[in-house]
Amino acid sequence: MNIILAAVISLDGKITRHNETGAISWNSIEDKKHFARLIAKSDAIIMGRKTYEAARKIIVLSPRRLRIVLTRAPEKYKKEAVSRELEFSKESPRQIIRRLQKMGRRKILIVGGGEIYALFLREGLVSRIELTIEPKIFGTGGNFLAPLQMKKEFRLVSARRLNRRGTLLLTYDVISTT
Ligand SMILES: NC(=O)c1ccc[n+]([C@@H]2O[C@H](COP(=O)([O-])OP(=O)(O)OC[C@H]3O[C@@H](n4cnc5c(N)ncnc54)[C@H](OP(=O)(O)O)[C@@H]3O)[C@@H](O)[C@H]2O)c1
Repeated sequence: MNIILAAVISLDGKITRHNETGAISWNSIEDKKHFARLIAKSDAIIMGRKTYEAARKIIVLSPRRLRIVLTRAPEKYKKEAVSRELEFSKESPRQIIRRLQKMGRRKILIVGGGEIYALFLREGLVSRIELTIEPKIFGTGGNFLAPLQMKKEFRLVSARRLNRRGTLLLTYDVISTT
């Protein structure tokens, strides 16, 4: 199973700028294209409820990929669910991955935000990180990872410069998880 965590961050490790939501107002066109390719290759996407709320208007549902939104109150979103395309769940990360595996979904993309990234990383459920770093500093905003204690080590698979300004795409495999 291929479980990829994808994020775009500023140089100071923020996934959002100040009190805004989302990253589309500040990430590069090259990162947008990279993210669109990752989505196209996935057959399941996992996100937190806050990320879903922020992206709701631009999410394009498809029967080719199941989107699972984690929330502790899935009943509130019952009307928004679309069979085989959009679900709301309070299952644990491990339960979700096991269920996806049973359904034959093999290419899973974890798209955040910070709470969900930290949760899946801590549980040892991420095999690869695709981290885009935009050469910007915000000072305030949402952190890449919510504070959950863990010890993880990674091996760099590739480092690509995506544009002249120096947006970097770093790909890391997880080599140890405790
Ligand atoms: N730059 C990037 O790459 C990037 C990527 C993704 C998101 N973002 C941005 O980051 C912001 C959101 O990040 P965030 O960290 O604040 O929130 P988040 O991770 O998107 O969502 C947090 C929510 O997930 C649910 N949740 C968390 N743990 C859970 C668990 N164990 N079981 C069930 N549900 C659980 C809760 O929903 P309930 O409160 O409903 O229970 C919680 O409020 C948004 O502005 C988004 O646009 C940026």
